[in-house]
Amino acid sequence: MEGEQIKTIRLGFLGAGTVGGGTLDLLARRSEQIARSIGVEFDVRRVSVRNPSRPRDVAIDPSILTTDAWSVVDDPSIDVVVELIGGESPASDYIERALRHGKHVVTANKEVIAKYGAELLDLANHSNVNLFFEASVGGGIPVIGVLRHDLIANEITSLRAIINGTTNFILTAMEQGRDYAEALREAQRLGYAEADPSNDVDGVDATYKLAILSTLAFRTNVHPDQIEHVGIRELRQKDFQFAAGMGYVIKLLAAADVGPNGIEASVRPTMIPTDHHLANVKGVFNAVLIDGDQIDKFMLYGRGAGARPTASAVVADLCAVAHNLQRNVIDRVEIVHQHRPIVDFGDTRSRYYLRLQVTDQPGVLAQIARVLGEHEISIASVMQHETDETAGVAEIVIMTHQAAERAMAAALGLMRTLAVVHEVSAFIRVER
Ligand SMILES: NC(=O)c1ccc[n+]([C@@H]2O[C@H](COP(=O)([O-])OP(=O)(O)OC[C@H]3O[C@@H](n4cnc5c(N)ncnc54)[C@H](OP(=O)(O)O)[C@@H]3O)[C@@H](O)[C@H]2O)c1
Repeated sequence: MEGEQIKTIRLGFLGAGTVGGGTLDLLARRSEQIARSIGVEFDVRRVSVRNPSRPRDVAIDPSILTTDAWSVVDDPSIDVVVELIGGESPASDYIERALRHGKHVVTANKEVIAKYGAELLDLANHSNVNLFFEASVGGGIPVIGVLRHDLIANEITSLRAIINGTTNFILTAMEQGRDYAEALREAQRLGYAEADPSNDVDGVDATYKLAILSTLAFRTNVHPDQIEHVGIRELRQKDFQFAAGMGYVIKLLAAADVGPNGIEASVRPTMIPTDHHLANVKGVFNAVLIDGDQIDKFMLYGRGAGARPTASAVVADLCAVAHNLQRNVIDRVEIVHQHRPIVDFGDTRSRYYLRLQVTDQPGVLAQIARVLGEHEISIASVMQHETDETAGVAEIVIMTHQAAERAMAAALGLMRTLAVVHEVSAFIRVER
């Protein structure tokens, strides 16, 4: 780039928390390298926060700090708005107005992109600006760019992902013998889980991310409300032991497939074989496994969150905007090409693991097998693991063959009414 004029691109930041602070710090440290590589320097003009007097890890010139985010969005001197506030509102309003004003937008906001990504991308196309959101899924893993650009010549048929580091940390600890409450406390102590961990442990965060990935991969708008999701709160230590004995680990699996009747998408605790590509993704790490008709299987693995990895993705997006601005083009990848129906989750099929507390007496298994049989669910294996003779209660673990979710739910409902069934303690999908 020597000899060429360095162009200045003016940035307005909304948010300077974990990711915003990390991005400002990275931009400051790598400005020379970026200028040399792409011939651009970034000038941070304004930064809006909630509390300007809050101590921050990164030094921000007080004269550019404001509490008025609209003043950043409406500032005509700003070329790119970097939205790092999070949450649906008011972030989505800021992004929309910035795009209407003809500003490029870079965001890490999974909730806004999952719920309104298709409309916002349309708006960006109409306004002739770029909307980039690499940091919204997988932190430092560049999966959005891979789906948007690198795999464009593929028909993608399946996605399997571990895309929530908090739950993967908890499940890894449970695999190692900890119980749920203890593992959650440890995650909170290390800063991997928030004081209110609901969004993570109930599978909401992973659902937003799967909606974004599925929309890009299958070129069909998949809304988070169309994705069945179940969290990890109900998992018990015992199930990890039984799973290990049968050659499985339990993961919060985000799964989406194109089937004959449309797209099947869910986020659920799932048993996956120990030799599965995702079985060794441990702790806070994330991974995305993609099946494309040209590439076959392809996996991305890395840190799914944290200031540094996420800032790396935000800065990459800023450089992509800068690159496009220099060539006077925009990234006009039309992501929603076709309408494919989303399959009702009740119609999807899986194998299942069941753990039941039953009365320890002859004929009980026959009653359970009859209920399953009436719903066309066949049993692959049954194990009686331990019996509390004094209480007269036995614990049985059943693995089924493939069955429809609706039939399984109906069979479980009926089983709960049987006098001999004390409790259905676990009900977990088993990956093919
Ligand atoms: N943290 C991660 O590892 C990670 C990874 C991937 C993606 N993301 C995404 O990145 C985004 C930011 O996350 P974060 O972890 O950096 O959040 P954070 O640490 O809570 O930071 C949020 C920032 O936004 C500011 N803010 C909040 N409400 C505002 C408002 N109404 N107007 C202006 N500023 C406001 C806060 O101001 P104060 O500083 O004054 O409080 C703070 O600077 C989210 O969309 C998140 O999902 C985060």
